[in-house]
Amino acid sequence: MMKHVYFEGKKKGAPTLVLLHGTGGNEHDLLSLAEMIAPDAAVLSVRGNVLENGMPRFFRRLAEGVFDEQDLLFRTKELTEFISEKAKEYQFDRNKVVAIGYSNGANIAASMMYHHEQSLNGAILFHAMVPRRGVNIPDLTNTKVFIGAGKQDPLIPLNETKELIEDLKKANASVTEYWVNGGHQLVREEVEEAKKWYDQHYNK
Ligand code: MLT
Repeated sequence: MMKHVYFEGKKKGAPTLVLLHGTGGNEHDLLSLAEMIAPDAAVLSVRGNVLENGMPRFFRRLAEGVFDEQDLLFRTKELTEFISEKAKEYQFDRNKVVAIGYSNGANIAASMMYHHEQSLNGAILFHAMVPRRGVNIPDLTNTKVFIGAGKQDPLIPLNETKELIEDLKKANASVTEYWVNGGHQLVREEVEEAKKWYDQHYNK
């Protein structure tokens, strides 16, 4: 079980957005972001099940940027299954799920794509890291990914974002990258770009 909120979409057939907050956030954090990017979509916004000094997260870490791999795998499976359960309960199309994640939430969204086949139809990853190295990523043909990154992100070196993009491309995902002159903070400019990307792929 995961704490969450669900809102039905205003448009029939529109995707369902799965919103995944950053460290210390909750299921309400990204609602206005979803409203900006895809006002017609259904929304399943989830709170991470792990607490770090009282701050919700989607998986444990050993230190900043150092993930607890076992917990990452466990939590990734838990979230993937949770989304499938909720698709049945709320009757949304499991094959039309687009994740929107920021930071820790983007990392678990990336981890879903690295570990579970067809877990996401698309993903908007704001300031994501490489979730895991040395794994065979399932085929991501027809999976669409938008990556928003900061050129001066103190948490995520430029090369790590490039590695993430390469990993996803090698698995046949269609990746759009957008770089801002900034740090780890999410900025308006990349949200606007994500909206353009969403409209192109899902709002035709
Ligand atoms: C993580 O642990 O997922 C990353 O360090 C990003 C964050 O601080 O949440």
